[in-house]
Amino acid sequence: MSPSAKQKFLLAHNIPPALEVPPDDTKRSISAHTDASRLRHLAFAVDQVPPRLRHGLHLEFGVRNALSINFLAAKTDAYGAVWDGFDSFVGLPSSGSGERVGWGAGVFTRHGSLPTVRTNVRLHAGWFNETVPRLLDAKHASTRGVAFVHLDADLYESTALVLEALGSRCALRKGTVLSFDELFGTAAVLAHEYRALNEAAAKWQFKYEFISYAITRKSAYARAAVRITSRPQSAGSACRLAAPVLPCRPRNVYIDAGVNWCVIAATWECSAPEPLSPLAAIQVQHASALPRRAARARPP
Ligand SMILES: C[S@@+](CC[C@H](N)C(=O)[O-])C[C@H]1O[C@@H](n2cnc3c(N)ncnc32)[C@H](O)[C@@H]1O
Repeated sequence: MSPSAKQKFLLAHNIPPALEVPPDDTKRSISAHTDASRLRHLAFAVDQVPPRLRHGLHLEFGVRNALSINFLAAKTDAYGAVWDGFDSFVGLPSSGSGERVGWGAGVFTRHGSLPTVRTNVRLHAGWFNETVPRLLDAKHASTRGVAFVHLDADLYESTALVLEALGSRCALRKGTVLSFDELFGTAAVLAHEYRALNEAAAKWQFKYEFISYAITRKSAYARAAVRITSRPQSAGSACRLAAPVLPCRPRNVYIDAGVNWCVIAATWECSAPEPLSPLAAIQVQHASALPRRAARARPP
Protein backbone atom coordinates (compact mmCIF):
# COMPACT_ATOMS: atom_id res chain seq x y z
CA MET A 1 0.00 0.00 0.00
CA SER A 2 1.19 3.53 -0.58
CA PRO A 3 2.82 5.29 2.39
CA SER A 4 0.10 7.95 2.29
CA ALA A 5 -2.76 5.41 2.45
CA LYS A 6 -1.00 3.76 5.39
CA GLN A 7 -0.41 7.05 7.23
CA LYS A 8 -4.00 8.15 6.67
CA PHE A 9 -5.38 4.92 8.07
CA LEU A 10 -3.08 4.83 11.09
CA LEU A 11 -3.89 8.43 11.97
CA ALA A 12 -7.62 8.09 11.41
CA HIS A 13 -7.77 5.04 13.68
CA ASN A 14 -5.30 6.17 16.26
CA ILE A 15 -3.05 3.16 15.68
CA PRO A 16 0.45 3.63 17.10
CA PRO A 17 3.12 2.97 14.44
CA ALA A 18 4.89 0.84 17.09
CA LEU A 19 2.30 -1.89 16.48
CA GLU A 20 3.82 -2.59 13.07
CA VAL A 21 5.64 -5.87 12.66
CA PRO A 22 8.76 -4.68 10.83
CA PRO A 23 8.87 -5.60 7.14
CA ASP A 24 11.36 -8.22 6.09
CA ASP A 25 14.06 -6.36 4.19
CA THR A 26 16.19 -9.35 3.45
CA LYS A 27 14.01 -10.92 0.74
CA ARG A 28 13.02 -8.32 -1.78
CA SER A 29 11.08 -10.47 -4.26
CA ILE A 30 8.99 -12.30 -1.70
CA SER A 31 5.27 -12.85 -2.40
CA ALA A 32 2.46 -11.43 -0.29
CA HIS A 33 1.67 -14.88 1.07
CA THR A 34 5.12 -16.01 2.10
CA ASP A 35 6.32 -12.65 3.37
CA ALA A 36 8.17 -13.25 6.63
CA SER A 37 6.60 -10.23 8.32
CA ARG A 38 3.17 -11.72 7.59
CA LEU A 39 4.10 -14.88 9.45
CA ARG A 40 5.71 -12.96 12.31
CA HIS A 41 2.52 -10.91 12.55
CA LEU A 42 0.39 -14.09 12.72
CA ALA A 43 2.71 -15.59 15.33
CA PHE A 44 2.46 -12.47 17.46
CA ALA A 45 -1.34 -12.28 17.08
CA VAL A 46 -1.97 -15.90 18.07
CA ASP A 47 0.26 -15.45 21.11
CA GLN A 48 -2.16 -12.81 22.35
CA VAL A 49 -4.95 -15.34 22.99
CA PRO A 50 -5.51 -15.15 26.74
CA PRO A 51 -4.75 -18.45 28.53
CA ARG A 52 -8.36 -18.65 29.77
CA LEU A 53 -9.54 -18.82 26.12
CA ARG A 54 -7.00 -21.32 24.82
CA HIS A 55 -9.45 -24.21 25.10
CA GLY A 56 -11.72 -22.32 22.67
CA LEU A 57 -12.09 -22.68 18.92
CA HIS A 58 -9.18 -21.87 16.61
CA LEU A 59 -10.53 -21.09 13.16
CA GLU A 60 -9.29 -20.09 9.73
CA PHE A 61 -11.53 -18.87 6.92
CA GLY A 62 -9.69 -19.04 3.59
CA VAL A 63 -7.22 -21.93 3.68
CA ARG A 64 -6.21 -22.38 0.05
CA ASN A 65 -2.77 -24.07 0.17
CA ALA A 66 -2.82 -24.26 4.00
CA LEU A 67 0.24 -22.11 4.36
CA SER A 68 -1.09 -19.97 7.18
CA ILE A 69 -3.18 -22.61 8.96
CA ASN A 70 -0.27 -25.07 9.09
CA PHE A 71 1.94 -22.30 10.44
CA LEU A 72 -0.60 -21.35 13.12
CA ALA A 73 -1.27 -24.98 14.02
CA ALA A 74 2.45 -25.62 14.52
CA LYS A 75 2.72 -22.48 16.63
CA THR A 76 -0.08 -23.59 18.98
CA ASP A 77 0.80 -27.29 19.20
CA ALA A 78 2.34 -26.65 22.60
CA TYR A 79 -1.04 -26.01 24.19
CA GLY A 80 -2.89 -28.65 22.15
CA ALA A 81 -4.97 -26.41 19.90
CA VAL A 82 -6.99 -28.06 17.15
CA TRP A 83 -7.67 -25.90 14.11
CA ASP A 84 -10.74 -25.87 11.88
CA GLY A 85 -10.08 -24.53 8.39
CA PHE A 86 -12.82 -23.56 5.96
CA ASP A 87 -12.54 -23.14 2.20
CA SER A 88 -14.44 -23.96 -0.96
CA PHE A 89 -11.13 -25.07 -2.51
CA VAL A 90 -12.64 -23.85 -5.79
CA GLY A 91 -11.71 -20.23 -5.16
CA LEU A 92 -13.66 -17.11 -4.30
CA PRO A 93 -17.40 -16.86 -4.86
CA SER A 94 -18.61 -14.13 -7.22
CA SER A 95 -19.06 -10.68 -5.72
CA GLY A 96 -19.52 -7.35 -7.45
CA SER A 97 -17.26 -5.45 -5.07
CA GLY A 98 -14.58 -8.15 -5.21
CA GLU A 99 -14.11 -7.76 -8.97
CA ARG A 100 -12.93 -4.18 -8.42
CA VAL A 101 -9.89 -5.31 -6.42
CA GLY A 102 -9.10 -8.37 -8.52
CA TRP A 103 -11.00 -10.84 -6.32
CA GLY A 104 -13.27 -12.32 -8.99
CA ALA A 105 -15.09 -15.67 -8.87
CA GLY A 106 -12.69 -18.63 -8.92
CA VAL A 107 -9.59 -16.65 -7.95
CA PHE A 108 -7.33 -18.83 -5.72
CA THR A 109 -8.94 -22.06 -6.90
CA ARG A 110 -7.37 -25.45 -6.15
CA HIS A 111 -9.95 -27.13 -8.40
CA GLY A 112 -11.41 -28.92 -5.40
CA SER A 113 -8.29 -30.68 -4.19
CA LEU A 114 -7.49 -30.46 -0.49
CA PRO A 115 -4.06 -29.33 0.68
CA THR A 116 -1.93 -31.41 3.04
CA VAL A 117 -2.44 -30.33 6.62
CA ARG A 118 -0.94 -31.09 10.02
CA THR A 119 -2.69 -33.62 12.22
CA ASN A 120 -4.13 -30.86 14.42
CA VAL A 121 -5.95 -29.28 11.45
CA ARG A 122 -9.40 -30.31 10.21
CA LEU A 123 -10.60 -29.09 6.85
CA HIS A 124 -14.19 -28.19 6.02
CA ALA A 125 -14.60 -28.08 2.26
CA GLY A 126 -17.53 -26.13 0.83
CA TRP A 127 -19.07 -22.67 0.88
CA PHE A 128 -19.04 -20.94 4.25
CA ASN A 129 -22.83 -20.57 4.40
CA GLU A 130 -23.10 -24.36 4.50
CA THR A 131 -19.99 -25.47 6.38
CA VAL A 132 -19.70 -22.81 9.08
CA PRO A 133 -23.13 -23.16 10.77
CA ARG A 134 -22.76 -26.92 10.69
CA LEU A 135 -19.48 -26.90 12.58
CA LEU A 136 -20.41 -24.17 15.04
CA ASP A 137 -23.64 -25.86 16.04
CA ALA A 138 -22.09 -29.30 16.25
CA LYS A 139 -19.26 -28.09 18.42
CA HIS A 140 -21.54 -26.19 20.78
CA ALA A 141 -19.53 -23.05 20.22
CA SER A 142 -21.33 -20.89 22.75
CA THR A 143 -19.89 -22.80 25.66
CA ARG A 144 -16.31 -22.93 24.39
CA GLY A 145 -16.15 -19.57 22.68
CA VAL A 146 -13.65 -18.58 20.04
CA ALA A 147 -10.00 -18.11 20.92
CA PHE A 148 -8.60 -17.00 17.56
CA VAL A 149 -9.90 -16.43 14.06
CA HIS A 150 -7.75 -15.91 10.98
CA LEU A 151 -9.97 -14.23 8.41
CA ASP A 152 -8.37 -14.58 4.99
CA ALA A 153 -11.39 -14.90 2.72
CA ASP A 154 -10.77 -11.45 1.24
CA LEU A 155 -14.35 -10.51 0.35
CA TYR A 156 -16.77 -8.44 2.40
CA GLU A 157 -19.57 -10.96 1.85
CA SER A 158 -17.54 -13.95 3.04
CA THR A 159 -16.08 -12.14 6.06
CA ALA A 160 -19.45 -10.69 7.09
CA LEU A 161 -21.03 -14.13 6.85
CA VAL A 162 -18.42 -15.60 9.19
CA LEU A 163 -18.69 -12.82 11.78
CA GLU A 164 -22.48 -13.06 11.70
CA ALA A 165 -22.30 -16.83 12.23
CA LEU A 166 -19.99 -16.36 15.23
CA GLY A 167 -21.86 -13.41 16.73
CA SER A 168 -25.29 -14.95 16.38
CA ARG A 169 -24.13 -18.08 18.19
CA CYS A 170 -22.65 -16.17 21.10
CA ALA A 171 -19.19 -17.46 20.21
CA LEU A 172 -17.24 -14.19 20.38
CA ARG A 173 -15.69 -13.37 23.75
CA LYS A 174 -13.88 -10.57 25.47
CA GLY A 175 -10.28 -11.50 24.58
CA THR A 176 -11.03 -13.23 21.26
CA VAL A 177 -8.35 -12.31 18.70
CA LEU A 178 -9.50 -11.61 15.14
CA SER A 179 -6.68 -11.49 12.61
CA PHE A 180 -7.47 -10.15 9.13
CA ASP A 181 -5.28 -10.64 6.09
CA GLU A 182 -6.44 -7.57 4.15
CA LEU A 183 -7.84 -5.22 6.72
CA PHE A 184 -6.74 -1.86 5.47
CA GLY A 185 -5.25 -0.08 2.49
CA THR A 186 -7.00 1.70 -0.34
CA ALA A 187 -10.66 2.77 -0.14
CA ALA A 188 -11.61 -0.26 -2.25
CA VAL A 189 -9.88 -2.60 0.23
CA LEU A 190 -11.55 -0.92 3.23
CA ALA A 191 -14.91 -1.90 1.74
CA HIS A 192 -14.20 -5.57 2.52
CA GLU A 193 -12.82 -7.01 5.80
CA TYR A 194 -12.71 -3.66 7.57
CA ARG A 195 -16.33 -2.94 6.74
CA ALA A 196 -17.36 -6.42 7.89
CA LEU A 197 -15.47 -6.01 11.20
CA ASN A 198 -17.10 -2.69 12.00
CA GLU A 199 -20.57 -3.88 11.11
CA ALA A 200 -20.11 -6.87 13.41
CA ALA A 201 -18.78 -4.66 16.22
CA ALA A 202 -21.84 -2.41 15.88
CA LYS A 203 -24.30 -5.28 15.72
CA TRP A 204 -22.87 -7.33 18.58
CA GLN A 205 -21.82 -4.24 20.49
CA PHE A 206 -18.21 -5.07 21.16
CA LYS A 207 -15.19 -2.83 21.28
CA TYR A 208 -11.82 -3.85 19.89
CA GLU A 209 -8.24 -2.65 19.90
CA PHE A 210 -5.51 -3.11 17.30
CA ILE A 211 -2.73 -5.36 18.54
CA SER A 212 -0.46 -5.57 15.49
CA TYR A 213 -0.30 -4.99 11.78
CA ALA A 214 2.04 -5.86 8.92
CA ILE A 215 2.50 -4.20 5.59
CA THR A 216 3.69 -6.25 2.67
CA ARG A 217 6.05 -4.65 0.20
CA LYS A 218 4.37 -3.52 -3.04
CA SER A 219 0.96 -4.63 -1.80
CA ALA A 220 -2.20 -2.48 -1.76
CA TYR A 221 -3.30 -3.77 1.62
CA ALA A 222 -2.14 -4.48 5.14
CA ARG A 223 -2.97 -7.32 7.48
CA ALA A 224 -3.91 -6.50 11.04
CA ALA A 225 -5.10 -8.22 14.21
CA VAL A 226 -7.54 -6.89 16.77
CA ARG A 227 -8.54 -8.06 20.22
CA ILE A 228 -12.13 -7.79 21.46
CA THR A 229 -11.95 -5.65 24.61
CA SER A 230 -15.53 -5.66 25.82
CA ARG A 231 -18.04 -8.41 26.35
CA PRO A 232 -20.05 -8.85 23.13
CA GLN A 233 -23.80 -8.62 23.63
CA SER A 234 -24.16 -12.18 22.48
CA ALA A 235 -21.57 -13.72 24.83
CA GLY A 236 -21.81 -15.38 28.19
CA SER A 237 -24.69 -16.55 30.31
CA ALA A 238 -27.36 -14.73 28.34
CA CYS A 239 -26.79 -17.24 25.60
CA ARG A 240 -28.17 -20.75 25.71
CA LEU A 241 -28.76 -23.56 23.36
CA ALA A 242 -32.44 -24.39 23.28
CA ALA A 243 -32.25 -27.81 21.66
CA PRO A 244 -29.95 -30.74 22.44
CA VAL A 245 -26.82 -31.35 20.43
CA LEU A 246 -25.50 -34.86 20.17
CA PRO A 247 -21.83 -35.64 20.55
CA CYS A 248 -19.80 -35.64 17.36
CA ARG A 249 -17.23 -38.13 16.22
CA PRO A 250 -13.89 -36.48 15.56
CA ARG A 251 -12.64 -36.79 12.00
CA ASN A 252 -9.62 -35.31 10.42
CA VAL A 253 -11.28 -34.12 7.22
CA TYR A 254 -14.89 -33.10 6.92
CA ILE A 255 -16.04 -33.20 3.35
CA ASP A 256 -19.20 -31.25 2.75
CA ALA A 257 -21.41 -34.30 2.38
CA GLY A 258 -23.31 -34.25 5.64
CA VAL A 259 -21.85 -37.53 6.88
CA ASN A 260 -21.08 -37.69 10.58
CA TRP A 261 -22.69 -34.42 11.50
CA CYS A 262 -24.78 -34.88 14.55
CA VAL A 263 -26.69 -31.73 15.31
CA ILE A 264 -30.38 -32.55 15.39
CA ALA A 265 -31.82 -29.09 15.78
CA ALA A 266 -30.25 -26.03 17.28
CA THR A 267 -31.85 -22.74 18.14
CA TRP A 268 -29.60 -20.16 19.67
CA GLU A 269 -30.95 -17.42 21.82
CA CYS A 270 -28.76 -14.43 22.42
CA SER A 271 -29.18 -11.13 24.16
CA ALA A 272 -28.71 -9.41 20.83
CA PRO A 273 -29.49 -5.76 20.29
CA GLU A 274 -32.29 -6.72 17.95
CA PRO A 275 -34.41 -9.90 17.81
CA LEU A 276 -32.74 -12.73 15.97
CA SER A 277 -34.58 -15.11 13.75
CA PRO A 278 -34.01 -18.67 14.96
CA LEU A 279 -31.49 -20.59 12.91
CA ALA A 280 -32.89 -23.20 10.63
CA ALA A 281 -32.80 -26.65 12.14
CA ILE A 282 -29.89 -28.69 10.92
CA GLN A 283 -30.92 -32.21 10.10
CA VAL A 284 -28.70 -35.22 10.18
CA GLN A 285 -28.44 -36.26 6.57
CA HIS A 286 -26.99 -39.67 7.20
CA ALA A 287 -28.32 -40.83 10.54
CA SER A 288 -26.83 -44.26 9.97
CA ALA A 289 -23.38 -42.69 10.12
CA LEU A 290 -23.94 -41.61 13.72
CA PRO A 291 -22.40 -43.57 16.55
CA ARG A 292 -24.94 -45.96 18.08
CA ARG A 293 -24.93 -44.25 21.47
CA ALA A 294 -25.64 -40.88 19.89
CA ALA A 295 -28.41 -42.24 17.69
CA ARG A 296 -30.22 -43.70 20.74
CA ALA A 297 -30.02 -40.33 22.48
CA ARG A 298 -32.09 -38.63 19.80
CA PRO A 299 -35.27 -36.99 21.06
CA PRO A 300 -38.56 -38.58 19.85
C1 LIG B 1 -6.30 -15.65 -0.16
S1 LIG B 1 -6.94 -17.26 -0.14
C2 LIG B 1 -6.41 -17.90 1.43
C3 LIG B 1 -4.91 -18.04 1.58
C4 LIG B 1 -4.42 -18.83 2.77
N1 LIG B 1 -4.89 -18.31 4.05
C5 LIG B 1 -2.90 -18.91 2.79
O1 LIG B 1 -2.27 -18.32 3.63
O2 LIG B 1 -2.34 -19.58 1.92
C6 LIG B 1 -8.68 -16.94 0.11
C7 LIG B 1 -9.53 -18.19 0.14
O3 LIG B 1 -10.83 -17.88 0.62
C8 LIG B 1 -11.74 -18.82 0.06
N2 LIG B 1 -13.11 -18.26 0.20
C9 LIG B 1 -13.48 -16.97 0.14
N3 LIG B 1 -14.81 -16.85 0.33
C10 LIG B 1 -15.29 -18.10 0.54
C11 LIG B 1 -16.59 -18.62 0.84
N4 LIG B 1 -17.67 -17.83 0.93
N5 LIG B 1 -16.72 -19.95 1.02
C12 LIG B 1 -15.63 -20.77 0.92
N6 LIG B 1 -14.38 -20.33 0.65
C13 LIG B 1 -14.20 -19.01 0.47
C14 LIG B 1 -11.25 -19.01 -1.36
O4 LIG B 1 -11.59 -20.27 -1.88
C15 LIG B 1 -9.73 -18.84 -1.23
O5 LIG B 1 -9.05 -20.09 -1.24
